Amino acid sequence: MNKEILGIDIGGTGIKMGITDIVTGKLLTERYKFLTPKPATPESVSMVIKSAIQERFPDYQGPIGCGFPAIIKNGIALSATNVDKSWFNLNLEEYFSQELNTDVYVANDADVAGFAEINFGDEQIRDEGLIIFLTVGTGIGSAFFYNGVMIPNSELGHLWYNNDIYERHISNVARKNEDLTWNEWGQRLNTYLKHLNRLFSPNMVVIGGGISKKFNKFSDEIDLPFPVIPASLQNEAGVVGASVYAYDRTK
Ligand code: BGC
Repeated sequence: MNKEILGIDIGGTGIKMGITDIVTGKLLTERYKFLTPKPATPESVSMVIKSAIQERFPDYQGPIGCGFPAIIKNGIALSATNVDKSWFNLNLEEYFSQELNTDVYVANDADVAGFAEINFGDEQIRDEGLIIFLTVGTGIGSAFFYNGVMIPNSELGHLWYNNDIYERHISNVARKNEDLTWNEWGQRLNTYLKHLNRLFSPNMVVIGGGISKKFNKFSDEIDLPFPVIPASLQNEAGVVGASVYAYDRTK
């Protein structure tokens, strides 16, 4: 079985891709980034992906793994919050496999990023009881792991807050739109994490997504009875996780 697999991380703002060595969890190529088209319909997104593959990986053959920002059950999107509503109820695995002419395996973007972190990140998070992995980007993605085993499709960014979903208050987009300082944003994150603590009593929270690189800018505001650490794969986790997920499905 091929151990060098193309992974694609589809986000509300960017589409990232690269080939991962699934034994080491390291990217073998650059992590290429393309803007998510607007509107982000199945047709427009798959056009961007097709031409990106042609341009960057013309010789690639094999399965493709894909992280997508929605609830994904048996390949089908059961939500569409930061993408076009036309994804709702679409079988993404069938759709992309047909469009890209190979087997494409799709799961929630935060779940696959968390999967990469559990497999290749800090060793302590593998058997640490309940770990909540959060990605902070256009939305808030979440992944639950209990002693290294994933419970898929948690949607902790969609807890209810102030008559809206919580991610609209604490995503990176909210930070930018409201011109929050890192300290102000860190305080919001801390309140949110306290809420998660009341609901789930995690042993540790891992913060991933683009914001993990800026962890020291807001870490002074974090004060919780469990460790909160930045993801060690930083923003590569989405692509690496997508590749590893595809490998896992073909084993
Ligand atoms: C979606 C999640 C996704 C997260 C991060 C949320 O709006 O509902 O499924 O994981 O954004 O992309």
